[in-house]
Amino acid sequence: MCGIVGILGNEPVAPQLLDALRRLEYRGYDSAGIATLEEGELARRRAPGKLVNLEKELNGTGLAGTTGIGHTRWATHGAPTKTNAHPHQSEGVAVVHNGIIEHFRELRTELTDEGVTFSTETDTEVIAHLISRELVAGSAPRDAVSVVLKRLEGAFALGIIFSGKQDLMIGARRGSPLAVGYGETEMYLGSDAIALAPFTNRVAFLEEGDYVILTRGGADYFDENDKPATRDIHVTQATAYLADKGNHRHFMAKEIAEQPEVIGHTLSEYVDMATHRVRLPEMPFDFAKLTRLTITACGTASYAGLTGKYWFEKFARLPVEVDIASEFRYREAPLPENGLAIVISQSGETADTLAALKYCKEQGQHTLGIVNVRESSIARECDAILPTFAGPEIGVASTKAFTCQLAVLACMAIAAGRARGTLSEEQERELVGALIKVPRHVSEVLRHEDQLEDIAKSICSARDVLYLGRGVNFPIALEGALKLKEISYIHAEGYAAGELKHGPIALIDENVPVVVISPNDELYDKTVSNMQEVAARGGKIVLFTDETGADANGDSTFQTFRIPAAHCFVNPLIYAIPVQLLAYHAAVFMGTDVDQPRNLAKSVTVE
Ligand code: F6R
Repeated sequence: MCGIVGILGNEPVAPQLLDALRRLEYRGYDSAGIATLEEGELARRRAPGKLVNLEKELNGTGLAGTTGIGHTRWATHGAPTKTNAHPHQSEGVAVVHNGIIEHFRELRTELTDEGVTFSTETDTEVIAHLISRELVAGSAPRDAVSVVLKRLEGAFALGIIFSGKQDLMIGARRGSPLAVGYGETEMYLGSDAIALAPFTNRVAFLEEGDYVILTRGGADYFDENDKPATRDIHVTQATAYLADKGNHRHFMAKEIAEQPEVIGHTLSEYVDMATHRVRLPEMPFDFAKLTRLTITACGTASYAGLTGKYWFEKFARLPVEVDIASEFRYREAPLPENGLAIVISQSGETADTLAALKYCKEQGQHTLGIVNVRESSIARECDAILPTFAGPEIGVASTKAFTCQLAVLACMAIAAGRARGTLSEEQERELVGALIKVPRHVSEVLRHEDQLEDIAKSICSARDVLYLGRGVNFPIALEGALKLKEISYIHAEGYAAGELKHGPIALIDENVPVVVISPNDELYDKTVSNMQEVAARGGKIVLFTDETGADANGDSTFQTFRIPAAHCFVNPLIYAIPVQLLAYHAAVFMGTDVDQPRNLAKSVTVE
């Protein structure tokens, strides 16, 4: 979602701000802008659409100033127009904002009644006017911000500069992350360490409720009660991840291709490759004593959670509830004593997942996060984390983070099974042995990408596509459908194969491709029966199966893609790859913006 960057520099900062905004593009946005102090006066350039439009604005009229803030906006209140683009200004102040001010209408009415004229439809503009009102009344910038922060309700991160104050920038955080970067003689503010990566790898993170006063000499932190606070400076790895597509046409293609490596890396953290035993870090709970797991997440991460449910129930005999976080957070679910809440999130910032986590904590659950960004809010809020080692995921559609989440859940399920006495050591070795082979199987699938490209071409003209799966592969059907619709804009739905007869079969005709995800496991025959029902009604079947499955039924399909045979436990990690590639190539054929599909944001920090 919205991205924030701020620089107190020694040279004109507009080019650096633009550069940093480019690195924030992956978060999703639909307009952008920059404000600097030109000889003490606020000056800004803004543009709807992609950064290239802002670049044109800047090339046309320039923007001097060594102090500046920049923003990519993902529209919530008001259309993505130039007027609604940030920074927003009022007398003496310019503000960039990520998040939502929930009661902005009340504040707007209050200010309008005092004679303030609003020029945008955004919630953010109230912040600029509120700060300005304090400044005009004689408050110093820090006092003005402190007063206004106490009036704001909602989730936000802010970057603020003031006319006439070349050596000052204020940042604030409530609900949305904000990082401070330390240069030699410059200081930086950013939504994440990736935005700051080319400038510095020395980064501190604001805690919930903090605000920070930046000057070129350093940063002073204050907590929500205005008490001075100390925030540690970390040396981040973000510079190693300067967004680079390598030889790939899109970040998504690069991230799909990286999966053998990152799954391997993630597994190597949690299993002993030599002994084939799971090796989790010490946990602040005992798997043997857990009464239930509650897994919450959004989108793709929730499908990882659903896959985990099959594994935990089967191998650890542990009851599992899985829910999407936006529903879970409001339904007041009763949670049992000695329950473990698992939240799964690539970004670690998803607002609904964070809220679900807080609810579980309040209900006395143990909490564990499976996150890709270790410095994220969710990571910090959990009792324990098991990070995925996917590296930064830049493409909006999650790919490598998903398979790494599956790898972590698989290891956890084995650990739980061992602790609860439902898996023997021999079974553990068998399952770990199967996991260790996954990177090799994934590489094998990637080698046949050209076939998936052909299949993608053949389904591209469809208006609707159905995905069917059973058992542990049902979540992969859901994931396949989500991937296809979000990046190619072709309507797709995933169903449990057994549900077909309860409604969706009415959709089948010769124009509807049906992607059937069915390795030759114990449910294969049942899924194939459902597949035959589709074929009998003229549906075009695309079967993803292994050699045995293909030999048995490959001739009744429109297309068959053969996948290496593996232990049925690990099939979801392997079958995730063809569904990603199918969606990717369909999107390329459709000519969509693969890495930044319309309307989507990478990090969904508002509910
Ligand atoms: C789909 C996708 C989203 C995310 C969801 C949760 O490809 O990427 O559905 O999975 O927005 O995001 P995180 O994992 O950051 O909480």
